[in-house]
Amino acid sequence: MAIQNIRYDTENQLFTLSTKNTSYQMKVDSRGFLLHLYYGAKISGNMEYLLTYYDRGFSGNPYEEETRTYSLDVLPQEYPTLGTGDYRSSALIVRNADGTESCTLRYKEHTIQKGKYSLRGLPAVYATNQEAETLEISLEDVVSKVEVRLFYGVLWEEDIITRSVVIVNGGSEEIIIEKAGSACVDFLYGNYDLISFYGRHAMERNIQRSKILHGNTVIGSRRGASSHQYNPALIIASSDATEDFGSCYGMAFVYSGNFQFEAEKDQFGLTRTMMGLLPEQFHYPLKHGEELIVPETILSYSAAGFSFLSEHFHRCIRNHVCRGEYQHQVRPILLNSWEAAYFDFNGETIVGLAKEAAELGIDMVVMDDGWFGKRDDDNSGLGDWEVNEKKLGCTLKDLIRRVTDTGVKFGIWIEPEMISEDSELYRTHPDWALQIPGRKPVRSRNQLVLDFSREEVRNEVFDAICKVLDQGEISYVKWDMNRSLADIFSKEHVAGKVHYLYVLGVYEFLERLALRYPSMLIEGCCGGGGRFDAGMMYYTPQIWCSDNTDAVDRLRIQYGTSFFYPISVVGSHVSAIPNHQTGRKTSLKTRGIVAMAGTFGYELDPKLLGEEERAEIKEQIKTYRNYEDLIRNGIYYRLTDPFTDDCTAWLFVSKDKKQALLNIVVTEVHGNMEVSFVKLKGLQKGAVYRELTSGKAYVAEALMEAGLPVSVETGEYNSCQFVFAVQEKL
Ligand code: GLA
Repeated sequence: MAIQNIRYDTENQLFTLSTKNTSYQMKVDSRGFLLHLYYGAKISGNMEYLLTYYDRGFSGNPYEEETRTYSLDVLPQEYPTLGTGDYRSSALIVRNADGTESCTLRYKEHTIQKGKYSLRGLPAVYATNQEAETLEISLEDVVSKVEVRLFYGVLWEEDIITRSVVIVNGGSEEIIIEKAGSACVDFLYGNYDLISFYGRHAMERNIQRSKILHGNTVIGSRRGASSHQYNPALIIASSDATEDFGSCYGMAFVYSGNFQFEAEKDQFGLTRTMMGLLPEQFHYPLKHGEELIVPETILSYSAAGFSFLSEHFHRCIRNHVCRGEYQHQVRPILLNSWEAAYFDFNGETIVGLAKEAAELGIDMVVMDDGWFGKRDDDNSGLGDWEVNEKKLGCTLKDLIRRVTDTGVKFGIWIEPEMISEDSELYRTHPDWALQIPGRKPVRSRNQLVLDFSREEVRNEVFDAICKVLDQGEISYVKWDMNRSLADIFSKEHVAGKVHYLYVLGVYEFLERLALRYPSMLIEGCCGGGGRFDAGMMYYTPQIWCSDNTDAVDRLRIQYGTSFFYPISVVGSHVSAIPNHQTGRKTSLKTRGIVAMAGTFGYELDPKLLGEEERAEIKEQIKTYRNYEDLIRNGIYYRLTDPFTDDCTAWLFVSKDKKQALLNIVVTEVHGNMEVSFVKLKGLQKGAVYRELTSGKAYVAEALMEAGLPVSVETGEYNSCQFVFAVQEKL
């Protein structure tokens, strides 16, 4: 198959990348600089005419320039660097051996290939040779011999373009990379909003929309993980864009550590947006011949609002980021011991949960935190990955056998990156924890972080964990990470490399784990959704979305999460009431409907339930199983906004549009309520859909244009689910 979607026009030195609905264009200009020309809805032809040249005061010119009208301070660029007279944010800052910070990148060569590039040691979008093409453009600074290779992956069908960068020191002296961007997108004109997803522990991914104005807007994480506070995925939208209308661009960083996103409107109205590694605490030395691989950014554009943009990202992450046996498999419905028992359990408790699970139709029991070392609370034991047989009252092997004998699978919780000071591991290897000599480290949850940038540390933890996992049929692991990094110092690496190498260490560990246990499901977790990013999704096809299991709060958390991440990765469980995080009471029905917008499960002690509730749970499980495929693989639509509307509604529509599952939770009740109408989306125009419970038939256009009235009932947080199926015969 010939290369079709990356074209190079030799005469004009023009690169055009095409996806089904979008075009991306850049050119090498006569001076050798790589200028960005266009990203957006499909176009043809040369967009160079958009560039204008004027003599702009205080915007300098490259030395060899004869006119004063050419300045890199005003032109749109693909990978701007410090030192060229561009005073806006740089994608790259290189500190040369003499202490100067300057790098001028000019085009050297390029290659176009079938297939999608991959990145050594880092997660990246993958695709077959039929699905993707790769453009690699090499730029070079002729003075320092620093070479920058820009990678572009084009996935035509998915409307996805990925970017990544490899920086190579071709010079003889050591340089330091002070800042390394992954993708820069300059918008020559227009007014844009920035939509970001901020939050906190147990309340992740709230949504914020603000104007991109003059001055730099900077969003990122300094925590060593991508963080609960700011998700590394953002939308740049025209100011009139809505769910179903207008231009919007998504940028999702495929990385789980410190990041920085920047947006800046410059003096002439150009908007520069950039995703990359956080420059703080990052000083990455490169000797001659060494390289730095900058993680990937996934880009997509929608001309039809956020809904379509989300669909692109959902498909891309589900099909081209998530991997392993569980990528497309039905996920087990699980019962987790955490909110059922916290640290207070023994083997009998877990077997008891397993019996309950088997009775209710649940597939798996997960023994959460507390089974190892000395771990009856969160003050000790991390690092001692040895089963506490005294606490369990049996060996792990026996426990697993007893659990699986009930007919359910067994899963277990681990937190490999952490160490408690009160642990055998710490007593033996105090220097394995990240701490700065001569200073007391910052404690968080009374634990320290292991130096995962060191191979020796990783290897020992890996071996200890494998010894546990080899003790029986363990079908699932929940990989947790319950604090942010501080005290960045490593015995093996200079401090400026540690954050990055730590994340690579985590990836390496996860890769080894997945290779050794290919049929084990690994669920990511970081105090819930503190590392909920496309990087982790490459290793863990599902991630616990939040430590907040309150159904009403979850409506907002899952809404924010849905802008980039597919339902198949969203860990969501039904928990007890009053909810342990909020004290709120919601009906079992509502909790079930909300948890069904994710990988379904329970996080409670079934023994405490009455007969009616048990019967309801059995029904919930049947419902989920019926629609699991539709939920996991269907197209997901947000129908209302839980931050502003009285009810939250979302919809799953099957790819062939023959089936749809509508979910509604009423979050506000008032006396003598107004009726809300929920409009459906994505149905087959002209088709008649029958709602299965009522048997009523509706024309697709009626459901989409006028909507369905939401029933006015008294009581808090009522909810309903409707299943629509195309009526084959009228
Ligand atoms: C984190 C997780 C919880 C639970 C606890 C155990 O907070 O998000 O689900 O596993 O750790 O300590």
